[in-house]
Order: sequence, then C-alpha cells, then structure tokens
Amino acid sequence: MRAIVQDAYGSADAMRFDADVERPVPGDDDVLVRVRAAGVDAGVWHLMTGTPYLVRLMGYGLRRPKYRIPGMDMAGTVEAVGANVTRLRPGDEVFGMGKGAFAEYACAPQAKLALKPASLSFEQAAALPVSGLTALQALRDSGGIRAGQKVLVIGASGGVGSYAVQLAKAYGAEVTGVCGTAKTDLVRSLGADHVIDYTRAEIGAGAGTATGAAGGAPARYDLVLDIAGGRPLSRLRRALTPRGTLVLVGNEAGGRWSGGMGRLLRAALLSLFVGQRLRPMAAAERYEDLDVLADFVGAGRLTPALDRTYPLSEAPEAVRSLAEHRVRGKSVVTV
Ligand SMILES: NC(=O)c1ccc[n+]([C@@H]2O[C@H](COP(=O)([O-])OP(=O)(O)OC[C@H]3O[C@@H](n4cnc5c(N)ncnc54)[C@H](OP(=O)(O)O)[C@@H]3O)[C@@H](O)[C@H]2O)c1
Repeated sequence: MRAIVQDAYGSADAMRFDADVERPVPGDDDVLVRVRAAGVDAGVWHLMTGTPYLVRLMGYGLRRPKYRIPGMDMAGTVEAVGANVTRLRPGDEVFGMGKGAFAEYACAPQAKLALKPASLSFEQAAALPVSGLTALQALRDSGGIRAGQKVLVIGASGGVGSYAVQLAKAYGAEVTGVCGTAKTDLVRSLGADHVIDYTRAEIGAGAGTATGAAGGAPARYDLVLDIAGGRPLSRLRRALTPRGTLVLVGNEAGGRWSGGMGRLLRAALLSLFVGQRLRPMAAAERYEDLDVLADFVGAGRLTPALDRTYPLSEAPEAVRSLAEHRVRGKSVVTV
C-alpha cells in the first residue's frame, strides 16, 4: 500500500512517501480501516520530532519512532475486523484514533472508533477525533462547565481551541477566545462572544483589548482552558474568579525534556491549598465521547473548522504548516 514512513526522529524532512509498504494486519480487538482522510495535530508533530523527550519514554521508541507510519486520527471505511469486534462491520463509515493513519490502510482498536456522522465528509470527520475529544473532556469533565459561566479559551484558533469555543457555546457559556491577530476573524466566526488578540492584550492583566459584538471581554472567568502559550500559573490564576477552574491542556513552551511537566505538578499541588481548582488533563480516547461529538455535529452545534487538505504525498508539508502556526483550525491529509 502507499504510506508515509519515518525511520528517524526529526523535522518533517524525516518523513517520506513510500508506494510499497506492507498492509497492517488487525489484532483480535482491532479494525482495519481503508483510510479516506487522516487528521494532523500537535501529537503527530511530537511523535515526529520525538519531543518532549518524555514521549520517547512513554513507549514510542527511545532512538527512533517505534511506529514507522505517522498519523493517528482517521476517517474511512471498515475493510476487515478482528475476531472480538462486535460493534463494527465491513463497509461501516467510521472515524476515530489508531496508528499509522498516513496510509491507505490503518488499524484502530474498536474502542476508539465510532460511526461517522452522515453530515460530515471524510475530511471533516478526520479533523475531529483527538482535538474534539480533548476540548469536550476539558470543558465537561475537568472543567465542569455550566450554562451562564464565563469561559476563556486560550489558543482558540487551533485544533483543540476551535472545538472548545463551539462546545462551550453549545453548553450555554459566554465565551472569550484568545489567538493571534491573523485568526481573530476565525474565532469570531466560531461563535466566540469576545476575542482577545494575545499580541495586543495580556491575560490576567485586567480587561483585555477585546473585539466582538458584546463589547469588552470580562476580566475574570469561571473556567479557563489553557491550551497554548505556557503562561505562568500566577498570571492564569489572576484571570480566574476566586472559586474558578483552570484546566491545563497543552503547552508548547514547556521545553524539550518534559514539555512543562513541572508546571502541571505545581498546579496539582497548589490546587490542594487554594480556593481555585487547577487541573492538568489528558484526553481519554474512547468511542463513547466520539459519539457525543457526533451528537453535537448532528444537532448543528459543532462543525470542524477545516482549513486545508493535503494529498498523502504532501503530508510532511501538512505537519510543517502546523508547526509554523499557519493552520486556521484544522488541516487533514486525504488518502
Ligand atoms: N492534554 C491533552 O490530552 C492534549 C490533547 C491534544 C492536544 N494537547 C496539546 O494542546 C496544545 C494545542 O494543540 P492544538 O492541536 O490545538 O494546536 P494548534 O492547532 O497548533 O493550536 C495552537 C493554538 O495556540 C495559539 N497560540 C499560540 N501561541 C499562543 C500564545 N502565546 N498565547 C495564546 N495562544 C497562543 C494559536 O494561535 P495563533 O495561531 O492564532 O497564534 C493556536 O490557536 C498542544 O500543546 C498539544 O500537545 C493536549
């Protein structure tokens, strides 16, 4: 089959197109998916570069990538199923998370695949899994979001953030999104009530320079999703109400070794002694929450903000554009 392969950690140049790769064989609990589109997200970049180095200790290969074919998020058609698979059968159109998605065929555990919403194209569905699940679980499970709350999404124009803005609105919150100058229009179009351009106003420094139909952004929030920027906890806490919740989702400024693990540990410890709740989170990959996302899509409350699609042979460029912050929302690779 045709696939992108990578034999060493490095930049996107370490990825190459190969027209003659062996097709994967599904295990008993796995589904073999004929991939129609594969998602591109920060996780693909981490596994491509092998940074932070902590990911290498998490079973992805110490010296070189353990899994030669990159890509995790996928949408496509079930080609074959393992002996224990009962929920899905050949011909089903699915989306979810597996291994080696930058290829014509890829395997995924049945527990990480759901039926694709009929209203979404394969490209849109491939943009949904890990970013959508992360946004959902950060707001609902870690954040305990409730209608009427003031919610701040830091990193609102990216993969996770573009879903978080829409989901927070669907839960009935007043939403403020934070992003760079070039993407404020995107965040507003996703439904944010206020948009803060982080190059012009700082979070936790009082009311920001905000734009949006409802006027100035609030100075304090009931719930803050920290997806990007790696701001100090003290500054993020200044943007929270006294009993507010800070959910720590991502931090590309965390350094090559641990990716900011120290800040997460400090947050968990500090949370024991202060009125605010400071919560690191890690997304759980489960089909039940893919079904929840599909319900939001079906109700017209969630639409992937799809920027560009790239043919399989140009997957390295797709990852490069993500690393260089050129993507508005999500991009996908079509197979
Ligand atoms: N905890 C988990 O389970 C989990 C799951 C998925 C992802 N993550 C992590 O979440 C992070 C974001 O992932 P993603 O896929 O959403 O990335 P992405 O698509 O690259 O989006 C990054 C976002 O951050 C914004 N940003 C960059 N610098 C910023 C700053 N200084 N202040 C505020 N916003 C800033 C970008 O805005 P502009 O482009 O407009 O500058 C963009 O909106 C990554 O670190 C990823 O590893 C964690």
